[in-house]
Amino acid sequence: KPAVRVALLGCGTVGAEVVRLLHDQAEDLTARIGAPLEIVGIAVRRLGRDRGDLPVDPSIFTTDALGLIKRDDVDVVIEVVGGIEPARTWLVEALRAGKSVVTANKALLAEDGGTLHDAAAEGGADLFYEAAVAGAIPLLRPLRESLHGDRINRVTGIVNGTTNFILSSMDSSGAGFAEALEEATALGYAEADPTADVEGFDAGAKAAILASLAFHTRVTAADVYREGITEVTAADVASARDMGSTIKLLCIAARGVDADGTESVSVRVHPAMIPRSHPLASVGDAYNAVFVEAEAAGQLMFYGRGAGGTPTASAVLGDVVAVSRNRLAGTWAPSESAYAKLAIRPMGDA
Ligand code: NDP
Ligand code: HSE
Repeated sequence: KPAVRVALLGCGTVGAEVVRLLHDQAEDLTARIGAPLEIVGIAVRRLGRDRGDLPVDPSIFTTDALGLIKRDDVDVVIEVVGGIEPARTWLVEALRAGKSVVTANKALLAEDGGTLHDAAAEGGADLFYEAAVAGAIPLLRPLRESLHGDRINRVTGIVNGTTNFILSSMDSSGAGFAEALEEATALGYAEADPTADVEGFDAGAKAAILASLAFHTRVTAADVYREGITEVTAADVASARDMGSTIKLLCIAARGVDADGTESVSVRVHPAMIPRSHPLASVGDAYNAVFVEAEAAGQLMFYGRGAGGTPTASAVLGDVVAVSRNRLAGTWAPSESAYAKLAIRPMGDA
């Protein structure tokens, strides 16, 4: 079969690992998909940047992302640039033209996922984003597929690797905040602007995506009550330890019933003190863990690497295999057309 042709937007921490995994696993991926994958172009910001020994022809790099997306020979667009614009314009263009999109861009999905989903429906194209929440952990596919026959009541978890790394370092080795943040950045966990991590915006975006899928309701970043970890001091961490507890940045999305009997959803992100006996207390380093409480399934726990180039590239490639198979079968997965649209309860008084 002819190759599935891929345009890669972004070749930083995640994008470079996507290139490496695609190269290293080319044979297996071809067997799994039923056709080879071919990267036909890579859009970046700086053509002259040193990209080490990346196993790819340097002539396929370009700074013209839109031109690359519009090429007739592109089937699948992988977006690992981040941010709202120009990523939104690129992905809308791709989806409306019927190209499959795989993205790790939680900021965009949480801010304006509706526009992307509408463009996907318009173009009859796949929009997959497993890497956007909790890195390598298979979490969104279970929510949007395996648990679709169930009713989810609550999702609780640690969904930001950088802040978990910082809080864990402060707790275990008494590391300072700035020192731990610097290490998390060097390890490729932090966002381009780490304010998004430490102020809780990144966890808030992920909480909005999780809540949207769990409750079939379009929740945006603006609906999430948010507090980051910048106010957590070494003294707070030590006091928590003295009390047999630890501090974690939690995301909590819950279905509730308001006084007038209407069902609603509330979503919040904030630091919380949890007893050391709690399963989330032992989630260290940049790991993530998410509990899902569903009516029939009961409690489910998802745990694994939540950040970093290689784990995130694993989730990206899983999506690439899925959308490529769909293309070859001439099908696509309608994603979010059937929203129940529950009310969203403001959490300003949390
Ligand atoms: P990086 O900052 O490491 O890489 C960003 C890439 O985008 C770079 O290659 C950069 O080019 C390119 N780029 C930036 N602006 C433009 C532009 N205008 N046109 C073309 N290319 C551009 O980011 P990450 O790899 O860490 O993250 C990418 C995405 O993945 C983000 O959405 C992030 O939130 C998400 N993500 C990241 C995780 C992680 O652990 N790092 C985990 C899960 C999701 P150049 O190389 O020339 O600078
Ligand atoms: N900056 C993010 C984190 C990357 O630390 O969790 C993974 O989404």
